[in-house]
Amino acid sequence: MTAPKKILLLPGDGIGPEVTAVLRKVMDWFQQTGRTTFDITEGLIGGASYDAHGTPLTADTIAAAGKADAVILACVGGPKWEKVPFAVRPEAGLLGIRKEMGLFANLRPALVFDVLANASTLKPEIVAGLDIMIVRELLGGVYFGEPRGIETLPNGERRGFNTQSYTTSEIIRVARVAFELARKRGKKVHSVEKANVMESGILWKEEVTKLHAAEYKDIELLHMYADNCAMQLARNPKQFDVIVTDNLFGDVLSDLASMMTGSLGMLPSASLGAKEVSGRQAALYEPIHGSAPDIAGKGVANPLALILSYAMMLRYSFNMAAAADLLEKAVQNVLRAGVRTADIVEKGQTPVSTAVMGDAVVKELSRLAP
Ligand code: IPM
Ligand code: MG
Repeated sequence: MTAPKKILLLPGDGIGPEVTAVLRKVMDWFQQTGRTTFDITEGLIGGASYDAHGTPLTADTIAAAGKADAVILACVGGPKWEKVPFAVRPEAGLLGIRKEMGLFANLRPALVFDVLANASTLKPEIVAGLDIMIVRELLGGVYFGEPRGIETLPNGERRGFNTQSYTTSEIIRVARVAFELARKRGKKVHSVEKANVMESGILWKEEVTKLHAAEYKDIELLHMYADNCAMQLARNPKQFDVIVTDNLFGDVLSDLASMMTGSLGMLPSASLGAKEVSGRQAALYEPIHGSAPDIAGKGVANPLALILSYAMMLRYSFNMAAAADLLEKAVQNVLRAGVRTADIVEKGQTPVSTAVMGDAVVKELSRLAP
């Protein structure tokens, strides 16, 4: 008998614990019905870890993540830790675990559920049926580039600086992920940079072009400047299939893309490392939303992004497409029935709590697959 797969669950901060409690119920349903036999443990990250241990990422959490077959994280950060030193802020824990796990490719799908087309601030005909995949490079660029810092100049003025840097191999490995995904989707990749002003963008464009010519001629490759991409996303998002871009542009463009879908509270993501020879691949799943301190503790947050992150985990890490489909279907049916948290509520609907949304999903799972 093979050992059960290990899942590490990291609730984090803000709305994290509330939405994780709901996810636990969904996970329990899959365990109790025998669809999964995971070995599930919880750990600390972000502000919660800082409060307990004085650091947002402990050696214990790093070790547990290393042993896990998949990690699922809710969100980190909040005003409570605004004054703590930069190096130990909650966000440093998130960046740290991405780095420790070698997660260089961040997959951020922006998929519009038909029933939510009216919840978007964009016109329904612009977003209905939208299905984009943003592949964000996650371990390079200004997020990690050296040198960086804040220094005082001889004249007493202060200077803050960061370094945008990409190597050939960093570009190629993430571009490869994008091309492979495109092959299973719409066969189109937009590579996004600012080659008109940045050397790192020139290199990005050249390397992606070379890789495409060598291995992916069956995929349509288009190049776009990041500012134009932002404009095109708002103008005609359905022209995109897969977008591959650097860490910072990917951060910004994925928030923009999320609003096409109605709410940041709906979007999951998967961060993946290199596939090892054994087939093993480090993976962390997380909603793209943050810790939403303004609504934390109120029980009104949308738990669906985290639940959908779990569906992504079932699909990508464990090849459990049927279970993932089932969960996504349950979410869709619940939305169709008009069960909505405040962020996606429409005229005439009464918003439900985080817990009620979770219970509705579990109930629908039981109905679909008794
Ligand atoms: C994200 C977040 C993080 C990022 C923050 C919390 C450090 O915005 O995952 O998009 O900038 O990568
Ligand atoms: Mg972000």
